[in-house]
Amino acid sequence: MRDDVAVTDSTTFWEHHYARLDAGWGTAPNPVLADLVTALAPAPGTALDLGCGHGGDALWLAGRGWDVTAVDVAPTALDRVAAGARAGGVTDRVHPVRHDLARTFPAGAFDLVCATYFHTPVEIPRAEVLRRAAAAVAPNGLLIVVEHGSVAPWSWQNGQDVRFPTPEEVRAALDLDAGWRTERCHAPRRTATGPGGRTATVTDTVVALRRTP
Ligand SMILES: C[S@@+](CC[C@H](N)C(=O)[O-])C[C@H]1O[C@@H](n2cnc3c(N)ncnc32)[C@H](O)[C@@H]1O
Repeated sequence: MRDDVAVTDSTTFWEHHYARLDAGWGTAPNPVLADLVTALAPAPGTALDLGCGHGGDALWLAGRGWDVTAVDVAPTALDRVAAGARAGGVTDRVHPVRHDLARTFPAGAFDLVCATYFHTPVEIPRAEVLRRAAAAVAPNGLLIVVEHGSVAPWSWQNGQDVRFPTPEEVRAALDLDAGWRTERCHAPRRTATGPGGRTATVTDTVVALRRTP
């Protein structure tokens, strides 16, 4: 995080983040997301990836036949998603779109809406964004929210006193009606690999919900 930039603007913060980040970082799918999709949504459809970063999840989904709208606030990240789609031969199935999700949200209904590690130091109405994410799920579709449940040593949050919501709190904050089935609501641990190949045990907060028809 830059010391000379007030963390009040999402584009400024995340552009700076991606400008410093190796373009190859974050181009592999998050293993938790990949496992969930493989288990819960094996047949491809339309997907909306919120806060897609370098597009690891979006590109992996597209490679499995999903038609993916990949949303981020940082143009540099979206440029790298587009480059990854060209390199992977999936430009027809990856649609990088810039939104500041605190202000605007993509139109449409999707078979899969995912938000993996949609964390930011900028104050945004995050719970409201995730409620809009749920509203964008088509009947029979899946909402997948994966969050950090602990701070990795290479995270920009390292050293901060962070209290992460429990999986149940994440689910409750979505304020859903009865037309949803909980597929996953737990906090598994795994070995994560950070920049430079460093590894650490981390906890994820995983909520996967299916909208019933
Ligand atoms: C911690 S990163 C996670 C990236 C990716 N999902 C992953 O798992 O590697 C959070 C992402 O959310 C994006 N983001 C933060 N605030 C945003 C906002 N207000 N609107 C859209 N995207 C935002 C950032 O640019 C960043 O790519």
